[in-house]
Amino acid sequence: MSVHQNIKKVTTHVLAEMKLRGEKISMLTAYDFSMARIIDSTGIDVILVGDSASNVMAGHETTLPITLNEMIYHAASVVRGAKRALIVVDLPFGTYQGNSKEALSSAIRIMKETGAAAVKMEGGSEIKESVVRILSAGIPVMGHLGLTPQSIHKFGTYIVRAKEDTEADKLIEDAKILEEAGCFAIVLEKIPANLAGKVAKEVKIPVIGIGAGNQVDGQVLVLHDMLGITQEFSPRFLRRYHNLHLEIFGAVKHYIEDVKNCDFPSDKEQY
Ligand code: KIV
Repeated sequence: MSVHQNIKKVTTHVLAEMKLRGEKISMLTAYDFSMARIIDSTGIDVILVGDSASNVMAGHETTLPITLNEMIYHAASVVRGAKRALIVVDLPFGTYQGNSKEALSSAIRIMKETGAAAVKMEGGSEIKESVVRILSAGIPVMGHLGLTPQSIHKFGTYIVRAKEDTEADKLIEDAKILEEAGCFAIVLEKIPANLAGKVAKEVKIPVIGIGAGNQVDGQVLVLHDMLGITQEFSPRFLRRYHNLHLEIFGAVKHYIEDVKNCDFPSDKEQY
């Protein structure tokens, strides 16, 4: 029987075991209680309370505006809805880049006020000190390399990263630094598949990809994108498993029609 089927509560150790056995890790984002309850009941391994909440929940253009208090609100709601999955929460922009003390106090607030099991941070060598400090407080850290949306204004575009050798070499070096600092896993976003595969081979910790091909140890997608709630975002790596936008649109149209025609509520639907 697979590690995934056997386990009642996913921990960072379970993910390490899955990598050892060559069993792929499934991860999706969630930002609220109701969605978290549904996806947790499917047996998903990891739920990421991503700062993509800034885009899909709050309607901002980038992930930069979301605050620590807002992330805590989303994460606490997700934790209340999920029993089995490992819950990882993004440290939002501006709450860890200053120094390692600031990073630690942000991570502590997330752990104390949400009940989540780990935090995620974007960056490589520049966040090493913060990763070590957060880990020294017993808080597991997931890294995030490649396309790092919190740095969008530095890069200027969301195109594929690390296509050139120098950037690719730096990414491999950063992945090793994060592993050495103690990260339990790394997300690689929008980089060439062969490079992502190389990283997954060269580090012992699980490597989870989004737009990073199939040679890695697991995959993550933004829930609203894979369910087809969002329509305008269509990168090559995104597989839409449903068109929920259409379903919701149809249901609401039907409801309006029923109200206007006095078909709702019926005799059976009143007291
Ligand atoms: O915020 C997020 O949803 C993420 C994923 C894209 C990995 O960081």
